[in-house]
Amino acid sequence: MTTHNMSIPQPTKHHHHHLSLLLILFLLCFNATATQQFREAPKFYNSLSCPSIPATADQSSDEAVHVAMTLDAAYLRGSMAAILSVLQHSSCPENIIFHFVSSSSSSSNLLSTTISNSFPYLKLRVYAFDYSAVSGLISTSIRAALDCPLNYARNYLANILPPSVRRVVYLDSDLVLVDDVAKLAATPLGDRVVLAAPEYCNANFTSYFTPTFWSNPSLSMTFAGRDACYFNTGVMVIDLQRWRAGDYTTKIVDWMELQKRMRIYELGSLPPFLLVFAGNIAPVDHKWNQHGLGGDNFRGLCRDLHPGPVSLLHWSGKGKPWDRLDANRPCPLDALWAPYDLLKTQFALES
Ligand SMILES: *[C@@H]1O[C@H](CO)[C@@H](O)[C@H](O)[C@H]1NC(C)=O
Repeated sequence: MTTHNMSIPQPTKHHHHHLSLLLILFLLCFNATATQQFREAPKFYNSLSCPSIPATADQSSDEAVHVAMTLDAAYLRGSMAAILSVLQHSSCPENIIFHFVSSSSSSSNLLSTTISNSFPYLKLRVYAFDYSAVSGLISTSIRAALDCPLNYARNYLANILPPSVRRVVYLDSDLVLVDDVAKLAATPLGDRVVLAAPEYCNANFTSYFTPTFWSNPSLSMTFAGRDACYFNTGVMVIDLQRWRAGDYTTKIVDWMELQKRMRIYELGSLPPFLLVFAGNIAPVDHKWNQHGLGGDNFRGLCRDLHPGPVSLLHWSGKGKPWDRLDANRPCPLDALWAPYDLLKTQFALES
């Protein structure tokens, strides 16, 4: 059983006991899962037209595509599938450098060994995320899994990754690509924009913030003159140089601190990104985040694709394809995730 299936009593809205929150975070986010065994992925080769990049991952090269993901035991199977999908659909797979942010140095050793066993040729670096920096800033949301400290690591990529990395594609662990990540990484950001992501201007933007937020003019004024639209933070192209120069981490943390004092939103790590960036991002084609395949935050019902082409399938929401496949109750689209699953089956283990 994976930890995020556990039913955990939610603290009541108005009584945020810090200790009980920490206990919940511990149970939910750091509980070790049974050791999973993964197959070795095939080696993927650059096509002849690919530029050559320096051999070590810490050397920066603007020809390299830098991909950042988080790494934890509960979502490891998803991460492995995501990595495989990125490599398989890339024309220059040897030019991709993965940056994994893990919840602690002990788990990062184990997890990076697991990754390296399945992807012996992968260019990767693993960073331990100091979750004490963020645990005091987390307030409970509508879905407990959204409260895991690692979920907030995307706020800190500019600080965690070496300064030589100038641009990064951030990817969640519950997705697979079916197109070349280099195309996503090459999204034009213009002269000033820090972040690119698919925008959803039909989504009801009001609903991402509480009436407390909207009824306070000094807060709601944040969006004045901005054409703010919802975007999903599971797939982002980030200019880390501009992020560092503008100290956007502090801007996000400031909103998280305000959220601790007055509840201005109900979701986890997403709303601060909307507060800081919505209306000022570069657009990305919707095909790069066919999101919501995990259903809603409460029940995880099956969802269909949005109309149009598909470059990336994202099982955001409560239902994860590996859980539903294991339970023998897959949604139709979970069949598109299954080919990237590297977990050794019972049959393979026994044979
Ligand atoms: C948008 O959401 C807000 C708050 O949840 C709600 O009051 C409003 O009716 C919604 N608007 C539309 C057009 O659905």
